Amino acid sequence: MFADLKHLSHHAAWRRQLEMLLESAGEGIYGIDLRGRCIFINGAGARMLGYAADEIMGRNMHYLIHHSHANRELMPVHDCRIFRAFRDGRGERVDDEVLWRRDGSCFDAEYASYPIRNEQEVVGAVVTFSDITARKRIERELHNTQAQLEARVAERTAALSAAHDSLRSLSAHLSTLREQERAHIARNIHDDLGASFTALQLDLNWLRRQLAAQPALQTHLDRMLDLTQTAMDATRRILNDLRPVVLDHLGLWAALETLLQDLQARTGLQCRYLCPPDTERQRLGPQAEIAVYRIVQELLTNVQRHARARSVSVSAIWRDGGLLLAVEDDGVGMPLPETRQTFGILGMRERARAIGGDLTLDSAPGAGMRARLRLNPPAA
Ligand SMILES: Nc1ncnc2c1ncn2[C@@H]1O[C@H](COP(=O)(O)OP(=O)(O)O)[C@@H](O)[C@H]1O
Ligand SMILES: [Mg+2]
Repeated sequence: MFADLKHLSHHAAWRRQLEMLLESAGEGIYGIDLRGRCIFINGAGARMLGYAADEIMGRNMHYLIHHSHANRELMPVHDCRIFRAFRDGRGERVDDEVLWRRDGSCFDAEYASYPIRNEQEVVGAVVTFSDITARKRIERELHNTQAQLEARVAERTAALSAAHDSLRSLSAHLSTLREQERAHIARNIHDDLGASFTALQLDLNWLRRQLAAQPALQTHLDRMLDLTQTAMDATRRILNDLRPVVLDHLGLWAALETLLQDLQARTGLQCRYLCPPDTERQRLGPQAEIAVYRIVQELLTNVQRHARARSVSVSAIWRDGGLLLAVEDDGVGMPLPETRQTFGILGMRERARAIGGDLTLDSAPGAGMRARLRLNPPAA
């Protein structure tokens, strides 16, 4: 008897401990039998649901607190994941459903439902749950903020790329305009100054003949004639720079050859030019020809200014309806990719792009420079 009593009191103490544990837990905890009826619930759980604990005892928990989704659509009991614990004999953890309060409102809940086993037999389920309204609200806010942010980024990116596109076309437009203006100025200089110089030269020559008896004045006139010639040469150079006439008269390939010949004559750089007959037969159209000419001009200026090269070669190969133009030097080279944007290279790239081509540079310190301009065949 004594042993039994002792056992009983031990049992009662243990039970009291369990009750205290359940009541002290901040989470809601309840148990259900196999028919879903509440067999116990702790104070925190009852409070969260807006009931007194003994109002809940014996009630079917699905119909009491878990009957509908947040949008008030009914949740059939066979979909109930709380009951699944004893139906399938395994635990379930859920954080995307709501539980319903006595006053008809609901709250976002997280719950875990685990089968209660007596020996091997499942006799019910124990459910722990908590109110995660605050967490869900923050999650939703976070989600909204992120969506807004993404929308803003997309908007900005679109605006930037539109601005980029307009800048591109503006740059292409300006470059066409500049070429037109240069041609216009060149024509004016040629017509006005050219005619005046020629007239001046004729008059000076006439005067010189008149002054055959006065050698001192003649020497003076010779100096004036020399000066006139120098001015005419300078004008021709400026004109050619403004608008390469050879481009208009003989086409791009001859104009490139002239560029190289000039460079070699001026600097002593060894220049090679490769332009096979296949290429020579092609014309690119005035817009593309002036663009390619300006690009090669800038590439050669760079060789002359920066490369300290001994030789430079230009090749223009026509293949499959497109052009592959290469300018290569054996100079000091440069590290690539460029660390800073410089306008020479930027301008060449933009010009190439404006005529549907692209420019690639290949170089390293000490390894010379290879520039390639690719022009795709015009889209039919
Ligand atoms: N052929 C070359 N060999 C070595 N360095 C080059 C060559 N071409 C360009 N560079 C380097 O790239 C830089 C940028 O060239 P660029 O954009 O034409 O500007 P800029 O000629 O006005 O300096 C040059 O300052 C030079 O350092
Ligand atoms: Mg340059």
